[in-house]
Amino acid sequence: MNIVLFTFSGTGNTWWTVQSFKDLAKKKDIQVEILSIENILDETPLFFTDIYDRADIIGLAYPIYGSSWPHIVRDFTFQLLQHISHHHCSSSDTPKILVLTSMMLFSGDGALVPRRYFKRNGFQVKWAINIPLCSNISIPIFRANPYPIEKIEKNKQKALVKLEQLLDTIIKERPWLEHQYNLPYRFVAWLQRMTEPLLFHLVHFSVDPLRCTLCKQCVRFCPTHNITYNKEIDRIIFKDNCTFCMRCYNLCPVYAIKAGKKTSLPPKYKRLEPIMKDFSYTELHKE
Ligand SMILES: Cc1cc2nc3c(=O)[nH]c(=O)nc-3n(C[C@H](O)[C@H](O)[C@H](O)COP(=O)(O)O)c2cc1C
Ligand code: SF4
Ligand code: SF4
Repeated sequence: MNIVLFTFSGTGNTWWTVQSFKDLAKKKDIQVEILSIENILDETPLFFTDIYDRADIIGLAYPIYGSSWPHIVRDFTFQLLQHISHHHCSSSDTPKILVLTSMMLFSGDGALVPRRYFKRNGFQVKWAINIPLCSNISIPIFRANPYPIEKIEKNKQKALVKLEQLLDTIIKERPWLEHQYNLPYRFVAWLQRMTEPLLFHLVHFSVDPLRCTLCKQCVRFCPTHNITYNKEIDRIIFKDNCTFCMRCYNLCPVYAIKAGKKTSLPPKYKRLEPIMKDFSYTELHKE
């Protein structure tokens, strides 16, 4: 069996999830191919139809943002569907769809968000699962401090068990759509989705020029190319295409990125511990 997983990960948690899934799958003779979405945005239709032809299962993996999916993943999915739906008409063996998310605590039916778009194009989302790991959003306006390392390790162990269960349902071809019939969960998630634009509206990233060393790490790794260096004023500038992944905020070596108006004083600036010891952003974002 061959699974192709289109993955977006802002700060590495989802990347750890899909890599762990791949390792577990290998032991069961299931091949998992992982593609970082931000690296394939400019690929040709042929690239995607080729994947369609060789995949038994096509997967989407992303971090939960306000019980929903990141803009970059939504836009990518529309592009993917455009490419493969045409191909789909002429093929009888349609790949099934898997959605895998990583999250902090609560996502309601966040893994089911892409389902209607796939359904409209004739694809069946057969598995939609959330993996609780840890927080990556500790900013002055929304303080969800990073978990201590012991708690992260515990969550990783639980995640491995859940991923193993997911693989078993895939092998047995049984569907698993998390919280599909849990109406209170779905309602809270819906409320969260309604208020999510407000958070995006309230929080704007900017750079504290007194701290910034102009190392340009943030420019290099921003998945949406939303950060640039302005030569004339010798400063880092944010545009308006942010997918709110928290990558720049978490990787800035000198804590210079501000979220909202409040200052980035170190006591307020709590940064995520990378979930993988040797994690490097070059895996997600190749220039
Ligand atoms: C803008 C934003 C909104 C988030 N909303 C939620 C949420 O509603 N529920 C939740 O459990 N975690 C939420 N989180 C936490 C992330 O889903 C979680 O840390 C995820 O594992 C990050 O994955 P990544 O490292 O692959 O980017 C949010 C994070 C961000 C940046
Ligand atoms: S990563 Fe931080 S220090 Fe480096 S250019 Fe960006 S804001 Fe400045
Ligand atoms: S500006 Fe920062 S938070 Fe926004 S998309 Fe780029 S790296 Fe992510």
